[in-house]
Amino acid sequence: MRILVTGGAGFIGSALVRHLVRETDHSVVNVDALTYAGHPSTVAPVAGSDRYAFEHVDVADAAEVARVFREHAPDAVVHLAAESHVDRSIDGPADFVRTNVVGTYTLLEAARAHRDRLSGGAADAFRFVHVSTDEVYGTLGESDLFTETTPYAPNSPYSATKAASDHLARAWHHTFGLPVVTTNCSNNYGPYQYPEKLVPVVILNALRGRPIPVYGSGQNVRDWLFVDDHVRALVRVLERGAPGETYNVGGHNERTNLDVVETLCGHLDRLAPERAPDGGYGSLVEHVRDRPGHDFRYAIDAGKIGRDLDWTPDETFESGMERTVRWYLDHADWCETVLRDRYDLERLGAAA
Ligand SMILES: NC(=O)c1ccc[n+]([C@@H]2O[C@H](COP(=O)([O-])OP(=O)(O)OC[C@H]3O[C@@H](n4cnc5c(N)ncnc54)[C@H](O)[C@@H]3O)[C@@H](O)[C@H]2O)c1
Repeated sequence: MRILVTGGAGFIGSALVRHLVRETDHSVVNVDALTYAGHPSTVAPVAGSDRYAFEHVDVADAAEVARVFREHAPDAVVHLAAESHVDRSIDGPADFVRTNVVGTYTLLEAARAHRDRLSGGAADAFRFVHVSTDEVYGTLGESDLFTETTPYAPNSPYSATKAASDHLARAWHHTFGLPVVTTNCSNNYGPYQYPEKLVPVVILNALRGRPIPVYGSGQNVRDWLFVDDHVRALVRVLERGAPGETYNVGGHNERTNLDVVETLCGHLDRLAPERAPDGGYGSLVEHVRDRPGHDFRYAIDAGKIGRDLDWTPDETFESGMERTVRWYLDHADWCETVLRDRYDLERLGAAA
């Protein structure tokens, strides 16, 4: 199969690209605009493969996207390109509307035109996997779970644009018969995550001896999934998911943000004791003003993808977090490269 992956130079997209090239026989066309969050180094380990091609293209550029479909004639699309950071969506929502909404619309239209040119069997087999987030469902109380039928109630500019893109994907299936499958996944962590999200921000600030910022009380709950488990879920959905269906993907790993920070500091105390301040890395924790509109809790019921597609996560929270800390300790150069002239770990999204 020739798979067009959008956002394949980002965190999850690059993990998918590396997996597809290394572990499967599929070919990959990586379509990425290389924004601040995308970097060629994330796919360098597989970039030399003859089953890998790169297209430096903005998904909202209709002419370029149409060219890519004509030239590469993909059998499937896995759409991950997005502006993905909630804090940045508070500071500047325009890019989120453009990429997440207009970009998804542009891809859906190009995929529809491409599929219309395919013959019967190839047209039936074509898939468009739309990768989304559990944040579209809004916020939970203490104990309930998101299911595939939970009503959409996005609260941030980021989640609102992702919700809009999910609705477009749904409509292109129902109205035009495009074989779309949508996934809504919980918080990912692991190697190559841009150091603006909680896990790498904590690790890098700690190693620099800087304050580790915790928003508000730190009691907000997220459901954490190791990125390679998400990648296996996406491949399962691509190969076996039913068109028109949505699948929630989650790790059954609910933790408060403060739990996550303390776990990371514990691993750092053990793995990098020579750089620890007196009192350990945990002594660097500093509670800062909460994120405006901060959702209290997300948690996924991943029963459907377990039952229907036989997917469960491999990694536990403890083993995945330890692997992640080790990876960042071993890849300080990568962090410096992707941060240089782009971002210096400063607070984003604090203004209401
Ligand atoms: N990170 C998570 O925890 C998480 C959880 C659930 C769902 N998701 C979804 O998964 C997808 C990937 O998330 P991520 O964390 O890897 O994001 P990321 O920010 O690390 O990567 C996004 C990639 O998209 C590219 N991109 C951005 N705008 C583009 C455009 N206009 N045209 C082409 N490429 C563009 C960037 O260059 C980058 O390589 C997103 O759709 C996100 O909403 C993420």
